[in-house]
Amino acid sequence: MTNKELQKRKNNIIARGQGNLLPIFIKKGVNSELWDEEDNRYIDFGAGIAVANTGHSNPKVVEAVKEQVTNFSHTCVMVTPYKNSIELAEKIVKKSPIKNAKSIFVTTGAEAVENAIKISRAATNRPGIIAFNGGFHGRTNLCMGLTGKVAPYKNGYGPFPNDIYHAPYPIEYHGISVDESIKYLSNIFKVSIEPEKIAAIIIEPVQGEGGFYEAPKGFLQKLRDICDQYGILLIVDEIQTGFGRTGSFFASEKHNIEPDLITMAKGLAGGYPLAAVVGKSEIMDKPLPGGLGGTYAGSPVSCAAALAVLDIIEENNLVSRAIEIGETVVNKLSQLQIKYPMIIGDIRNSGAMIACELIENGNSELPNTELTKNMVSEAAKNGLILLSCGARGNVIRILTPLTIEQHILEEGLDIFEKTFISLLN
Ligand SMILES: Cc1ncc(COP(=O)(O)O)c(C=O)c1O
Repeated sequence: MTNKELQKRKNNIIARGQGNLLPIFIKKGVNSELWDEEDNRYIDFGAGIAVANTGHSNPKVVEAVKEQVTNFSHTCVMVTPYKNSIELAEKIVKKSPIKNAKSIFVTTGAEAVENAIKISRAATNRPGIIAFNGGFHGRTNLCMGLTGKVAPYKNGYGPFPNDIYHAPYPIEYHGISVDESIKYLSNIFKVSIEPEKIAAIIIEPVQGEGGFYEAPKGFLQKLRDICDQYGILLIVDEIQTGFGRTGSFFASEKHNIEPDLITMAKGLAGGYPLAAVVGKSEIMDKPLPGGLGGTYAGSPVSCAAALAVLDIIEENNLVSRAIEIGETVVNKLSQLQIKYPMIIGDIRNSGAMIACELIENGNSELPNTELTKNMVSEAAKNGLILLSCGARGNVIRILTPLTIEQHILEEGLDIFEKTFISLLN
């Protein structure tokens, strides 16, 4: 069956709200390559949105999953738990930049965020939450409230929960300095809610959907200080940045801060649904037994996959590989930028979380949304899966598996260049 036919069937039966970026139906994946139902080959620069960090169908993950499903695939961690969830919790707590931490497992990133907020409110007995413009935290009601982008995430879906306030994320490229952001945040305490009523500030150390903007040096430290001053908890949403992607195991490590809570998902289990909240023990233990969890929370199959993922990251030095991937990609994009400075406005990366912002006439405030869209669709026709993001839809984001072979990475970058140049002519 062709992609076209499958797209037609999909449109007839799946609601349009669950749209797809590309009309490509995948049949098989091997590390950083995908094949569709028509046997076309693609190089994957998206990794299922930063999930397949250890590659598609990594043999170690496949083996671990097979072994687990042969034994059992579900008992519910809240009824009769199992050893691999404990082993996994011990490992991720040890890796996290929080001293004396505990964890819980849930199923999706949005659930991890919801639980981090629940835990913060239970621990502080306060209602308020501060999030950031351009931030993305998921599609459930509370997460939509936290998300700082209206279309397509919020329009038509209100009302949203109360007591959520947004501050600007500092983005020097778009003229928002750290000082301005902090000033605005402090203003919330003057005009909207007293700081003693704020339970938590939630922030992505590198904004994902928002456009791959990394928090400038010192910003998270300033937030930490504000939190300490007023007894507010700092939640770092590492759902997209976690597990080596940015060249350190967690992005918050680079900022030398100890968050109170960290949310994790995506790369954690290499494609199996699993998410976690890790936080300071005294905070994590505030909710009553039974208050946190879910039927599928911490699935034993996902936990088995995640244990394999952690081994793969370690054995293959994927944290340092993320830095090399970032350098290779930025190098190539910079060569293109030298030739096309009026169109490629900004190139930025945090390890293997890489973005380039497409603009018009060299003006950073003129987003080239059309070219961005065309890049994604034309690259796919040429055999390269690319993703876009950004509040204005003009950012190409590159999130290859961290296990991508160097020659395939370079092949993908050549397709990127060829596609880009062909669209300008
Ligand atoms: C930073 C961040 N938080 C939360 C989420 C929501 O995760 P999920 O789609 O698994 O619910 C995402 C997903 O893209 C994300 O990037």
